[in-house]
Amino acid sequence: MSPSAGGLVVFLLSVQVIQSQDGWRVNYRQTDVCAAKGSEVFISCDITHPPGIYYYDIKDRFWFTKEKDGEPVDLKTDSEYSGRVTYGCYSNSKDCYLIITDVRESDSAEYKFTFRTNKPGEKYTGSPGVTLSVTDSGLQVQVRRSDSTWLELTCHSSCVLSDRAEYVWYKNGEYFMTGSSLPVSSGSTDRYSCYLRGSSGQRSPAVYGPQRPSVSVSPSAEMLEGDSVTLTCSTDANPAANYTWYKQGGTSDPRLLSEEPHLVFSSIQSSDSGNYSCTAENQLGRKTSDFISIDVKYGPQRPSVSVSPSAEMLEGGSVNLTCSTDANPAANYTWYKEHEDSPRASGQIFTITDFTAEHSGNYYCEAQNEMGRSNSTLRLITSSGKGASNGWTAAFASTSAIFLVINMILAVLMIRKKSPPSSRPAERPENNAQVRRTSSVWRPLGTSGIIMPGL
Ligand SMILES: *[C@@H]1O[C@H](CO)[C@@H](O)[C@H](O)[C@H]1NC(C)=O
Ligand SMILES: *[C@@H]1O[C@H](CO)[C@@H](O)[C@H](O)[C@H]1NC(C)=O
Ligand SMILES: *[C@@H]1O[C@H](CO)[C@@H](O)[C@H](O)[C@H]1NC(C)=O
Ligand SMILES: *[C@@H]1O[C@H](CO)[C@@H](O)[C@H](O)[C@H]1NC(C)=O
Ligand SMILES: *[C@@H]1O[C@H](CO)[C@@H](O)[C@H](O)[C@H]1NC(C)=O
Repeated sequence: MSPSAGGLVVFLLSVQVIQSQDGWRVNYRQTDVCAAKGSEVFISCDITHPPGIYYYDIKDRFWFTKEKDGEPVDLKTDSEYSGRVTYGCYSNSKDCYLIITDVRESDSAEYKFTFRTNKPGEKYTGSPGVTLSVTDSGLQVQVRRSDSTWLELTCHSSCVLSDRAEYVWYKNGEYFMTGSSLPVSSGSTDRYSCYLRGSSGQRSPAVYGPQRPSVSVSPSAEMLEGDSVTLTCSTDANPAANYTWYKQGGTSDPRLLSEEPHLVFSSIQSSDSGNYSCTAENQLGRKTSDFISIDVKYGPQRPSVSVSPSAEMLEGGSVNLTCSTDANPAANYTWYKEHEDSPRASGQIFTITDFTAEHSGNYYCEAQNEMGRSNSTLRLITSSGKGASNGWTAAFASTSAIFLVINMILAVLMIRKKSPPSSRPAERPENNAQVRRTSSVWRPLGTSGIIMPGL
């Protein structure tokens, strides 16, 4: 049961008690009054009396809280209240009030109204009285949304203040207006505070919507894959703002990521790179930060190497070696030939024109950025031997027998002369095979003379 409900029940019981006394009754408008320290308290009551009573029949009216020797002590004579108490009745004599200004916590007590009647020696006291609680707690502005564009600010104390409480509103620290509530448009960044008129209490803390938040990165904007990174959204707002994080997507709408002021990446990945913003929101409005760019750096992966047109090269041909890898910032590329110290080329594509046997061998491409380096190897070989063999076959087929014989002899002589040394190391295995094959066909038939090959 809440204190006020309890107060009401007690009050109803007390009414019955007083009503039983010749129809006299004291009715308090509020039985529980709460006041902020330093404020002004207004307590009132009305008197019900039997018929035939005139205003002068109600005498010696006063308010009290203490009794001395069984007699109530008039508040006006109590030094603790001196200069702070006003009471009286309106002209009809039935509506009476008590005003205590600059209330103190020590004023918390039960206040009762008492008077004498037209019957000699007869006194009435409205009991139970009005319980006053004085609290030290400050005022608070509360925000309620009226509609999509308007807010209503109201001033609240931790206790229920008397009906007469009137508030003074301040905007950005300056007097704005008086009233029990204040309409304000949504999204306002002005600061509003309230003050209880007539009190010597404090102004409430100001409420205001968030300023445009700023985003910071910790430990620094230079980050490597795997680092722990924290983004922090900060703004000034009262009541405290809540936060929403967004990542600017390439195609989709901004994505909700977190509702904390901090967005934490315990191990940041290259896929976390992008533009981030945060929104700060409280009851008064919302504001969005600028985008902050997150660029996660990483060293090159092992590069992939491709050859165009083919790794088996004809002499005189040209070839493109292409190296590529993923890195941030983008890697640069250097081409080396095995066992050579100085690079053959730099750049992603290495073009070899007019290919010769000396070009065959192992190449490696090295991709490098400030984070690191990585390499891959590629083998280039010549294929001119195989091409020559086909040429020979074609020559045989298109030549007459006589010429064939002569050609044969010349060819055998030429091959024997040439073989075994070769200036093209990569071609050598192919040439040697050719010589051996030719010899094995001719040798059984004789060592010299005109011999027809087995056609
Ligand atoms: C981040 O923003 C910058 C400029 O503000 C833009 O150039 C860049 O493309 C954005 N990055 C992403 C991933 O959207
Ligand atoms: C943030 O605060 C606003 C205003 O108080 C509220 O409407 C909204 O639901 C809150 N958002 C979250 C995610 O808590
Ligand atoms: C090599 O690359 C260049 C351009 O980079 C191109 O013009 C050329 O046709 C390529 N050659 C081969 C054999 O792919
Ligand atoms: C490649 O990048 C590294 C690191 O950024 C730098 O030290 C080097 O000089 C660059 N090499 C070339 C050929 O640009
Ligand atoms: C190529 O990379 C490997 C490691 O991936 C390294 O051991 C090697 O020394 C590198 N080769 C050159 C020539 O830099």
